[in-house]
Amino acid sequence: MKAGGFSHAPVIPDTWPPGISVAAQGVAREGGEPLNEDQPGAATVTTPGEYPKELERDATLKEGTVAHLRPIRPDDAPRLVALFDRLSRHTAYQRFFSVLKRLPPAYAKVFANVDYQQRLAIVAEHDTPAGPELIGVGRYEPTDTPGMVEVAFVVQDAWQGQGLGSILLDAVLQAAVARGAQQFRAFVLGDNYRMLGLLARRTEIVGSKREEGVVAVEFRPLTAASP
Ligand SMILES: CC(C)(COP(=O)(O)OP(=O)(O)OC[C@H]1O[C@@H](n2cnc3c(N)ncnc32)[C@H](O)[C@@H]1OP(=O)(O)O)[C@@H](O)C(=O)NCCC(=O)NCCS
Repeated sequence: MKAGGFSHAPVIPDTWPPGISVAAQGVAREGGEPLNEDQPGAATVTTPGEYPKELERDATLKEGTVAHLRPIRPDDAPRLVALFDRLSRHTAYQRFFSVLKRLPPAYAKVFANVDYQQRLAIVAEHDTPAGPELIGVGRYEPTDTPGMVEVAFVVQDAWQGQGLGSILLDAVLQAAVARGAQQFRAFVLGDNYRMLGLLARRTEIVGSKREEGVVAVEFRPLTAASP
Protein backbone atom coordinates (compact mmCIF):
# COMPACT_ATOMS: atom_id res chain seq x y z
CA MET A 1 0.00 0.00 0.00
CA LYS A 2 1.40 3.37 -0.90
CA ALA A 3 1.97 5.91 1.81
CA GLY A 4 -0.19 9.02 1.78
CA GLY A 5 -3.03 8.93 -0.67
CA PHE A 6 -4.61 6.34 -2.84
CA SER A 7 -3.72 2.71 -2.30
CA HIS A 8 -3.50 0.56 -5.39
CA ALA A 9 -3.93 -2.85 -3.90
CA PRO A 10 -4.74 -4.52 -0.63
CA VAL A 11 -1.10 -5.37 -0.26
CA ILE A 12 2.21 -4.36 1.13
CA PRO A 13 4.25 -5.44 -1.89
CA ASP A 14 7.27 -7.61 -1.13
CA THR A 15 6.81 -7.54 2.61
CA TRP A 16 3.28 -8.46 3.49
CA PRO A 17 0.64 -10.89 2.35
CA PRO A 18 -1.94 -9.43 0.02
CA GLY A 19 -5.20 -8.69 1.70
CA ILE A 20 -3.59 -7.56 4.91
CA SER A 21 -3.79 -3.79 5.12
CA VAL A 22 -1.33 -1.39 6.66
CA ALA A 23 -3.64 -1.06 9.63
CA ALA A 24 -3.83 -4.82 10.07
CA GLN A 25 -0.07 -4.96 10.03
CA GLY A 26 -0.04 -2.53 12.92
CA VAL A 27 -2.60 -4.56 14.81
CA ALA A 28 -0.66 -7.72 14.19
CA ARG A 29 2.50 -6.20 15.58
CA GLU A 30 0.84 -5.42 18.88
CA GLY A 31 0.45 -8.97 20.12
CA GLY A 32 1.04 -12.60 19.45
CA GLU A 33 4.08 -14.55 18.54
CA PRO A 34 6.68 -13.38 16.05
CA LEU A 35 6.06 -14.24 12.43
CA ASN A 36 9.51 -15.21 11.32
CA GLU A 37 9.42 -18.54 9.49
CA ASP A 38 9.64 -16.95 6.08
CA GLN A 39 10.13 -13.31 6.88
CA PRO A 40 12.60 -12.67 9.65
CA GLY A 41 11.79 -9.45 11.41
CA ALA A 42 8.34 -9.21 9.90
CA ALA A 43 5.12 -8.65 11.76
CA THR A 44 3.52 -10.90 14.33
CA VAL A 45 0.27 -12.78 14.20
CA THR A 46 -2.78 -11.50 16.01
CA THR A 47 -3.53 -12.91 19.43
CA PRO A 48 -6.77 -14.86 19.07
CA GLY A 49 -9.83 -13.60 20.91
CA GLU A 50 -12.86 -15.61 21.96
CA TYR A 51 -14.11 -17.84 19.13
CA PRO A 52 -17.52 -16.55 17.93
CA LYS A 53 -19.26 -19.90 17.65
CA GLU A 54 -22.54 -18.15 16.87
CA LEU A 55 -21.19 -17.40 13.38
CA GLU A 56 -21.15 -21.11 12.54
CA ARG A 57 -23.91 -22.29 10.23
CA ASP A 58 -24.71 -24.38 7.19
CA ALA A 59 -25.52 -22.71 3.88
CA THR A 60 -27.23 -24.36 0.93
CA LEU A 61 -25.68 -23.46 -2.42
CA LYS A 62 -27.50 -23.16 -5.75
CA GLU A 63 -27.02 -26.80 -6.70
CA GLY A 64 -28.26 -27.98 -3.32
CA THR A 65 -24.84 -28.73 -1.87
CA VAL A 66 -24.42 -27.70 1.73
CA ALA A 67 -21.34 -25.74 2.77
CA HIS A 68 -20.43 -25.25 6.40
CA LEU A 69 -19.56 -21.69 7.35
CA ARG A 70 -17.49 -20.97 10.44
CA PRO A 71 -15.03 -18.40 11.76
CA ILE A 72 -11.45 -19.18 10.83
CA ARG A 73 -9.21 -20.90 13.40
CA PRO A 74 -5.43 -20.95 13.86
CA ASP A 75 -5.34 -24.61 12.74
CA ASP A 76 -6.75 -23.55 9.35
CA ALA A 77 -3.33 -22.25 8.28
CA PRO A 78 -2.35 -25.44 6.39
CA ARG A 79 -5.87 -25.65 4.94
CA LEU A 80 -5.43 -22.12 3.55
CA VAL A 81 -2.21 -23.21 1.87
CA ALA A 82 -4.04 -26.23 0.42
CA LEU A 83 -6.94 -24.04 -0.76
CA PHE A 84 -4.49 -21.71 -2.49
CA ASP A 85 -2.98 -24.73 -4.27
CA ARG A 86 -6.43 -25.56 -5.68
CA LEU A 87 -7.08 -22.04 -7.03
CA SER A 88 -6.57 -21.26 -10.70
CA ARG A 89 -3.91 -18.66 -11.40
CA HIS A 90 -6.66 -16.30 -12.52
CA THR A 91 -8.62 -16.61 -9.28
CA ALA A 92 -5.48 -16.32 -7.16
CA TYR A 93 -4.46 -13.21 -9.10
CA GLN A 94 -7.88 -11.62 -8.70
CA ARG A 95 -7.65 -12.16 -4.96
CA PHE A 96 -4.00 -11.37 -4.30
CA PHE A 97 -3.04 -9.12 -7.24
CA SER A 98 0.20 -10.96 -7.61
CA VAL A 99 1.48 -14.27 -8.82
CA LEU A 100 2.48 -16.51 -5.96
CA LYS A 101 3.40 -20.14 -6.58
CA ARG A 102 2.23 -21.05 -3.11
CA LEU A 103 0.77 -19.22 -0.18
CA PRO A 104 3.76 -18.97 2.16
CA PRO A 105 2.97 -20.75 5.44
CA ALA A 106 3.90 -17.62 7.37
CA TYR A 107 1.26 -15.65 5.46
CA ALA A 108 -1.29 -18.40 6.05
CA LYS A 109 -0.52 -18.21 9.74
CA VAL A 110 -1.33 -14.50 9.79
CA PHE A 111 -4.51 -15.06 7.80
CA ALA A 112 -5.63 -17.87 10.13
CA ASN A 113 -4.92 -16.02 13.37
CA VAL A 114 -7.48 -13.27 13.89
CA ASP A 115 -8.83 -11.65 17.03
CA TYR A 116 -12.50 -11.97 15.87
CA GLN A 117 -13.03 -8.27 16.55
CA GLN A 118 -10.70 -6.07 14.53
CA ARG A 119 -9.81 -8.91 12.20
CA LEU A 120 -12.18 -11.68 11.32
CA ALA A 121 -12.48 -14.28 8.59
CA ILE A 122 -15.22 -16.75 7.79
CA VAL A 123 -14.37 -19.93 5.94
CA ALA A 124 -16.67 -22.20 3.97
CA GLU A 125 -15.84 -25.88 4.02
CA HIS A 126 -17.29 -29.06 2.67
CA ASP A 127 -16.74 -32.67 3.59
CA THR A 128 -14.51 -34.90 1.51
CA PRO A 129 -13.51 -38.50 2.18
CA ALA A 130 -10.20 -37.10 3.41
CA GLY A 131 -11.93 -34.70 5.81
CA PRO A 132 -13.26 -31.15 5.61
CA GLU A 133 -11.75 -28.99 2.87
CA LEU A 134 -11.90 -25.19 2.61
CA ILE A 135 -13.70 -23.93 -0.51
CA GLY A 136 -13.98 -20.21 0.23
CA VAL A 137 -12.87 -17.46 2.58
CA GLY A 138 -14.20 -13.99 3.32
CA ARG A 139 -12.49 -11.60 5.69
CA TYR A 140 -12.28 -8.10 6.99
CA GLU A 141 -9.23 -6.23 8.20
CA PRO A 142 -8.94 -2.84 9.88
CA THR A 143 -7.85 0.22 7.91
CA ASP A 144 -6.27 3.51 8.87
CA THR A 145 -9.73 5.07 8.91
CA PRO A 146 -11.57 4.53 12.21
CA GLY A 147 -14.76 2.55 11.70
CA MET A 148 -13.72 1.44 8.21
CA VAL A 149 -12.75 -2.13 7.41
CA GLU A 150 -11.37 -3.67 4.23
CA VAL A 151 -12.89 -6.86 2.93
CA ALA A 152 -11.61 -9.58 0.60
CA PHE A 153 -13.07 -12.82 -0.70
CA VAL A 154 -12.07 -15.91 -2.57
CA VAL A 155 -14.05 -18.95 -3.69
CA GLN A 156 -12.37 -22.02 -5.18
CA ASP A 157 -13.02 -22.09 -8.93
CA ALA A 158 -15.10 -25.27 -8.95
CA TRP A 159 -17.43 -23.72 -6.37
CA GLN A 160 -17.88 -20.32 -8.00
CA GLY A 161 -21.24 -19.27 -9.41
CA GLN A 162 -23.24 -21.18 -6.79
CA GLY A 163 -23.95 -18.27 -4.51
CA LEU A 164 -21.10 -18.86 -2.07
CA GLY A 165 -19.45 -15.49 -2.75
CA SER A 166 -22.74 -13.75 -2.00
CA ILE A 167 -23.23 -15.78 1.17
CA LEU A 168 -19.70 -15.00 2.40
CA LEU A 169 -20.11 -11.31 1.57
CA ASP A 170 -23.31 -11.08 3.59
CA ALA A 171 -21.82 -13.08 6.48
CA VAL A 172 -18.66 -10.96 6.66
CA LEU A 173 -20.56 -7.67 6.49
CA GLN A 174 -22.97 -8.83 9.18
CA ALA A 175 -20.13 -9.92 11.48
CA ALA A 176 -18.27 -6.65 10.88
CA VAL A 177 -21.32 -4.48 11.59
CA ALA A 178 -21.97 -6.45 14.80
CA ARG A 179 -18.41 -5.56 15.83
CA GLY A 180 -18.74 -1.85 15.15
CA ALA A 181 -17.73 -1.42 11.51
CA GLN A 182 -19.59 1.42 9.80
CA GLN A 183 -17.76 1.80 6.51
CA PHE A 184 -16.36 -0.76 4.13
CA ARG A 185 -13.94 -0.85 1.27
CA ALA A 186 -12.59 -3.39 -1.15
CA PHE A 187 -9.81 -3.23 -3.71
CA VAL A 188 -10.92 -4.99 -6.87
CA LEU A 189 -9.16 -5.35 -10.21
CA GLY A 190 -10.95 -3.19 -12.77
CA ASP A 191 -11.82 -6.17 -14.99
CA ASN A 192 -13.19 -8.26 -12.12
CA TYR A 193 -16.80 -7.74 -13.14
CA ARG A 194 -18.08 -10.55 -10.98
CA MET A 195 -16.80 -9.01 -7.74
CA LEU A 196 -17.73 -5.49 -8.83
CA GLY A 197 -21.21 -6.75 -9.76
CA LEU A 198 -21.53 -8.57 -6.47
CA LEU A 199 -20.76 -5.40 -4.55
CA ALA A 200 -23.05 -3.30 -6.76
CA ARG A 201 -25.97 -5.65 -6.23
CA ARG A 202 -25.52 -6.55 -2.59
CA THR A 203 -24.22 -3.33 -1.04
CA GLU A 204 -24.78 0.39 -1.23
CA ILE A 205 -21.82 1.84 -3.09
CA VAL A 206 -20.83 5.20 -1.63
CA GLY A 207 -17.78 5.86 -3.78
CA SER A 208 -15.26 4.28 -6.09
CA LYS A 209 -11.98 5.36 -7.52
CA ARG A 210 -10.00 3.65 -10.24
CA GLU A 211 -6.26 3.94 -10.40
CA GLU A 212 -3.74 1.81 -12.26
CA GLY A 213 -6.31 -0.85 -13.05
CA VAL A 214 -7.55 -1.23 -9.49
CA VAL A 215 -10.88 0.02 -8.24
CA ALA A 216 -11.15 1.09 -4.62
CA VAL A 217 -14.81 0.62 -3.79
CA GLU A 218 -16.32 2.13 -0.67
CA PHE A 219 -19.69 0.80 0.36
CA ARG A 220 -22.16 0.14 3.13
CA PRO A 221 -24.29 -2.92 3.78
CA LEU A 222 -27.79 -2.64 2.38
CA THR A 223 -30.39 -1.77 4.95
CA ALA A 224 -34.15 -1.72 4.75
CA ALA A 225 -33.85 2.02 4.15
CA SER A 226 -31.45 1.59 1.20
CA PRO A 227 -33.00 2.32 -2.19
C1 LIG B 1 -15.74 -12.92 -6.65
C2 LIG B 1 -16.07 -14.29 -6.06
C3 LIG B 1 -15.67 -14.30 -4.58
C4 LIG B 1 -17.55 -14.54 -6.19
O1 LIG B 1 -17.81 -15.81 -5.66
P1 LIG B 1 -18.99 -16.72 -6.28
O2 LIG B 1 -19.17 -17.85 -5.35
O3 LIG B 1 -18.73 -17.03 -7.69
O4 LIG B 1 -20.20 -15.70 -6.15
P2 LIG B 1 -21.72 -16.00 -6.46
O5 LIG B 1 -21.92 -17.39 -6.88
O6 LIG B 1 -22.46 -15.51 -5.28
O7 LIG B 1 -21.95 -15.11 -7.71
C5 LIG B 1 -21.79 -13.71 -7.68
C6 LIG B 1 -22.40 -13.15 -8.93
O8 LIG B 1 -21.58 -13.47 -10.06
C7 LIG B 1 -22.37 -14.11 -11.04
N1 LIG B 1 -21.58 -15.18 -11.61
C8 LIG B 1 -21.38 -16.38 -11.09
N2 LIG B 1 -20.61 -17.12 -11.89
C9 LIG B 1 -20.32 -16.35 -12.94
C10 LIG B 1 -19.55 -16.55 -14.11
N3 LIG B 1 -18.91 -17.69 -14.37
N4 LIG B 1 -19.42 -15.50 -14.97
C11 LIG B 1 -20.04 -14.35 -14.71
N5 LIG B 1 -20.80 -14.12 -13.63
C12 LIG B 1 -20.93 -15.11 -12.76
C13 LIG B 1 -23.53 -14.70 -10.32
O9 LIG B 1 -24.66 -14.80 -11.18
C14 LIG B 1 -23.77 -13.72 -9.22
O10 LIG B 1 -24.60 -12.71 -9.67
P3 LIG B 1 -26.00 -12.51 -8.92
O11 LIG B 1 -25.65 -11.89 -7.61
O12 LIG B 1 -26.74 -11.63 -9.85
O13 LIG B 1 -26.58 -13.90 -8.79
C15 LIG B 1 -15.33 -15.42 -6.81
O14 LIG B 1 -15.65 -15.34 -8.16
C16 LIG B 1 -13.84 -15.40 -6.64
O15 LIG B 1 -13.30 -16.02 -5.74
N6 LIG B 1 -13.12 -14.65 -7.51
C17 LIG B 1 -11.68 -14.58 -7.43
C18 LIG B 1 -11.22 -13.78 -6.25
C19 LIG B 1 -11.78 -12.39 -6.28
O16 LIG B 1 -12.08 -11.84 -7.32
N7 LIG B 1 -11.88 -11.78 -5.10
C20 LIG B 1 -12.37 -10.43 -4.97
C21 LIG B 1 -11.30 -9.53 -4.43
S1 LIG B 1 -12.00 -8.66 -3.04
